[in-house]
Amino acid sequence: MEAISIGLLGLGTVGSGVVKIIENHQEKLLHQIGCPIKINKVLVTDLTKKRDIELSLDLLTTNALDIIDNPNIDVVVEVMGGVEETRRYLLQALKNKKHVVTANKDLMAEHGSELLTAAAENGCDFFYEASVAGGIPILRSLVEGLSSDHITKMMGIVNGTTNYILTKMSKQGSPYEVALKEAQELGYAEADPTSDVEGLDAARKMAILATLGFSMKIDLEDVKVQGITHITEEDLQYAKQLGYTMKLIGIAVLEDDKVEVSVQPTLLSDSHPLASVNNEFNAVYVYGEAVGETMFYGPGAGSLPTATSIVADLVVVMKNMVLGVNGKRIITPQHEKKLKKPAE
Ligand code: NDP
Ligand code: HSE
Repeated sequence: MEAISIGLLGLGTVGSGVVKIIENHQEKLLHQIGCPIKINKVLVTDLTKKRDIELSLDLLTTNALDIIDNPNIDVVVEVMGGVEETRRYLLQALKNKKHVVTANKDLMAEHGSELLTAAAENGCDFFYEASVAGGIPILRSLVEGLSSDHITKMMGIVNGTTNYILTKMSKQGSPYEVALKEAQELGYAEADPTSDVEGLDAARKMAILATLGFSMKIDLEDVKVQGITHITEEDLQYAKQLGYTMKLIGIAVLEDDKVEVSVQPTLLSDSHPLASVNNEFNAVYVYGEAVGETMFYGPGAGSLPTATSIVADLVVVMKNMVLGVNGKRIITPQHEKKLKKPAE
């Protein structure tokens, strides 16, 4: 079979990781898929920017239509971020029968249903494993590995930037601003880190997890959110003296037909397993009626860990292409159930 051709929207922290994995793991990917992956075009804003990967200049473009309307491209990998512009690009790509892989939780939390519906209508695959907990294959675990169980609760750390900041403040006494700057330099933070530190990024991820885990449409507005901006080094030192660690914890609980989802800074006893999840690492407990308690742990942000999830999605899309079954195994929430809020 001929090479499968992909277009990348974005070549930043995550996009360059995707290029590296495709290049460095060529042989393994060829073995898995049965044909090579060819990077056809890459969208950026600045053609002259110095980048840490070697990519032929003629692959770069500043015109998204070179990818989304390009008849030679089979799969669009969206790693540029943003919501409205990205939504338009991906809807257009799907209309053009291109499969989509994205890392964009902002987009999925707000427009996931619309995009997944458009994918299904066009017979396209649409995967977004990298959108929650970076390198941890949590979405596929929920919809495949735990599909036979009734999930009742999910709880954990789903934002790498805030976990990095809290770890540095608490363990090294780093000032908040210094720790945030480091998280930005390491590529963990969003382009605008406000959504990280105010808890919105974690709230979006919890909305996605709850939607998939409980098979109910959970909207971002249904998530109660509190971030970490008001927490001081003194708070953390005081907690430490008392044997506690502060973490930004997301919780989603399903009881009868009612769902409660929240994100807030939480004091955990030092002996709690989540208390030892440090730096950019994430961990999510999933409780199922039959399985009991499971825990997923790994890097929640960063170039190569996140790219691992993207390229794993690409492998599934491409295997589906080889088998001719695209659009039939979409990770999709069942929206027919309606959320009941606690007050109802
Ligand atoms: P970066 O800011 O590092 O990269 C964004 C890339 O997209 C850059 O190459 C930029 O071009 C390009 N780009 C942005 N806007 C446009 C535009 N309007 N038109 C053309 N090109 C554009 O972001 P990340 O790689 O960190 O994140 C990308 C996505 O992945 C986001 O949705 C983020 O939430 C998500 N994500 C990020 C993780 C991480 O650890 N960083 C982990 C999981 C998900 P140029 O290079 O020229 O500036
Ligand atoms: N900014 C996000 C985080 C990237 O810190 O978790 C991974 O989604």
